[in-house]
Amino acid sequence: MSGTAVPRIPLLVDCDPGIDDALALLYLAGSPEADLRAVTCTGGNVEARQVAANAQAILALAGRPEVEVALGREGPIARPLVTTPETHGPQGIGDATLPEPRTPLSLRGGPELIVEEARRHPGALTLVTLAPLTNLAVAIALEPRLPWLLRRVVTMAGAFRGDGNTHPTTEWNATVDPEAFAEVLAAFAPERAPAGTPPPPRPVIVPLEVTESHHLVAADVEWIATLAGGGDDPVTRFIRDALAFYFRFHAEYDGFHGAYIHDALAVAAALDPGLISTTPLTVDVETAGRLTSGETVADRRGRWGRPPNADVAVRADTATFHDRLLARLATVAREQRGSAA
Ligand code: RIB
Ligand code: CA
Repeated sequence: MSGTAVPRIPLLVDCDPGIDDALALLYLAGSPEADLRAVTCTGGNVEARQVAANAQAILALAGRPEVEVALGREGPIARPLVTTPETHGPQGIGDATLPEPRTPLSLRGGPELIVEEARRHPGALTLVTLAPLTNLAVAIALEPRLPWLLRRVVTMAGAFRGDGNTHPTTEWNATVDPEAFAEVLAAFAPERAPAGTPPPPRPVIVPLEVTESHHLVAADVEWIATLAGGGDDPVTRFIRDALAFYFRFHAEYDGFHGAYIHDALAVAAALDPGLISTTPLTVDVETAGRLTSGETVADRRGRWGRPPNADVAVRADTATFHDRLLARLATVAREQRGSAA
């Protein structure tokens, strides 16, 4: 058949499904340019083993049961795990149910998988983190060259402007494991590069104020159903049931009828950096604050005398993202209409 092949982007995804993580995985399944190599899991929205079972079940629902899913570290590197069943439901997928996974988890641990794949494919892989940064911090401790071995890191984490969604000024992923985020940012600091070694590519941070500049509403779910050929398919049923819980959460806690799909914007930006505008910033994470633990701090005026260690998104093309999100979720739903899930 004629037509130019879409260049594919090899990805690793670290996640904690979680409803928006689930839609991010479905977005990737509906993206021809996404070459999803593996998924790693950590505790966050719900406990790690539930996260891993959800990731396996969501990939099977999307027709991607062959994607390797690895269980990573179950909790933060230096503090107890806190989960948020009130946000994502007791099993992390809202009102939805999914069949038990039929494939075994990877024999590799999450951080070990990230390190092995980066060593095997130096400079080729984009790692997208959609969860507390525990697995990435452990991976960097295992392999300090990781910032140079990965092509790019894109992380949904942090909040620099406006209110937080966890503490008053903090975002969830950064707050669950602030020590991990701080260690990751330190590893990318240009001044930490070995003598004679150029700095690694700066990680792209997609913070809360950018992911909250877009939301889905109930009518969008019905539009996905229409695009998918009616909506009586397992993927649309999952989206409808998962978002039904998530809409109730946002109505109660955020006072609007809709839902922020944070993680889908991060994976969309990893596939198409043109969706976001970024600015280089020197960033660190508060780990000891009684009121502010997990706060991401940007030194915009050079007080610390350190060069930028991250590219922080400041805005997103939410109209283009919205259209792509609906279209790609509908693509997966249409493709899986005949499946038994
Ligand atoms: O603050 C939003 C982030 O925290 C998202 O990744 C969501 O899934 C939760 O993990
Ligand atoms: Ca997440």
